[in-house]
Amino acid sequence: MKILGIETSCDETAASVVEDGKRILSNVVISQIDIFSAYGGVIPEVAARSHLEAILPVIDKSLKDAKLSWDDIDAIAVTHTPGLLGSLLIGTLTARTLAILHNKPLYPVHHLKSHIYANWLETKGKPTFPLLAMVISGGHTQILYMKEHNHFEIIGTTHDDAIGECFDKVAKILGLPYPGGPSISKSAKLGDEKKYKLPHPKVENLDFSFSGLKTAVLRAVQKELGLPISHPSHDLKNHLNDQQIADFSASFEKTAIDILLEKLSLALSEHPDVKSIVFAGGVSANQKLRKEAEKLKGTDIFFPEPSLSGDNGAMVASACFYEIESGVKPADPYKINILPRSEIK
Ligand code: KG4
Ligand code: ZN
Repeated sequence: MKILGIETSCDETAASVVEDGKRILSNVVISQIDIFSAYGGVIPEVAARSHLEAILPVIDKSLKDAKLSWDDIDAIAVTHTPGLLGSLLIGTLTARTLAILHNKPLYPVHHLKSHIYANWLETKGKPTFPLLAMVISGGHTQILYMKEHNHFEIIGTTHDDAIGECFDKVAKILGLPYPGGPSISKSAKLGDEKKYKLPHPKVENLDFSFSGLKTAVLRAVQKELGLPISHPSHDLKNHLNDQQIADFSASFEKTAIDILLEKLSLALSEHPDVKSIVFAGGVSANQKLRKEAEKLKGTDIFFPEPSLSGDNGAMVASACFYEIESGVKPADPYKINILPRSEIK
């Protein structure tokens, strides 16, 4: 079964054709990072307008790269929730129109489900159930228990900021470009991770909190520079030297990864039946996290291909394939709505 997956929930316009949830026949991703790195974050209206310009050429290219025509496509899958309202609208309205025009079954897919199913793409081994999924993206930080395909139980979630958001905000304080994840990782390579002691939030059970960690970095920078806490955070970067930036990057990255893996160890001890762990979402591209996660004992660990950790259409098509396998029926293309916020079901 060949599924066209369409993704426009944030700042990537993406389309991909995937066969049987696994084999990627094409994968086209147009990123808006170059536009937003100058601003230090995504501007929703600009993102929506860029999607509008890119969406049809991206879908055309995904069919061309796969050497397929519309006749070869069995279904269309599209991200309809959660994400930026205007961005979701462009992908969803395009998918609805194409489904009606070409008479194809249409499946609306939850974005976090797609990130999780990036682990079934082009893999040698397959994750086995029951499993724990750690979703770490720009908008979410969650641990989920999956007893089988397309069955999700949220067992831990963040009370405030998401982990990716925290990387982005700390990068802004340090004067590193958006998105913060890759730029902090790069800078951290030259830094001393033990230089600054940053606190672990005291959150009960399997939940997270990252806004305190961001503030802790802010206070530590002010203290290091001998500036008062009233000093504007946007000006601190002008006083930091390269070594200080690298040391803060390394100390922050290490603390953030330790927090994630501590909670994951706790989740594992509470769910001894778990056979695999899958990491999902943009932050799962982090090389240090991939290395440190090897220390988790007793389960098989899966990461998506680094190029499939961020937003793409292939993961949408893969998630859709497993929904169809689980008996999910197509939606009415005249009725699908977008939802900027929603929990995975
Ligand atoms: O999954 P994603 O592409 O979009 C959302 O669904 O939010 O995640 C984007 C997030 C950004 O916050 C970005 O800074 C972070 O993923 N990210 C990373 C890395 N690459 C991207 N965080 C840490 N290390 C990385 N290498
Ligand atoms: Zn995402």
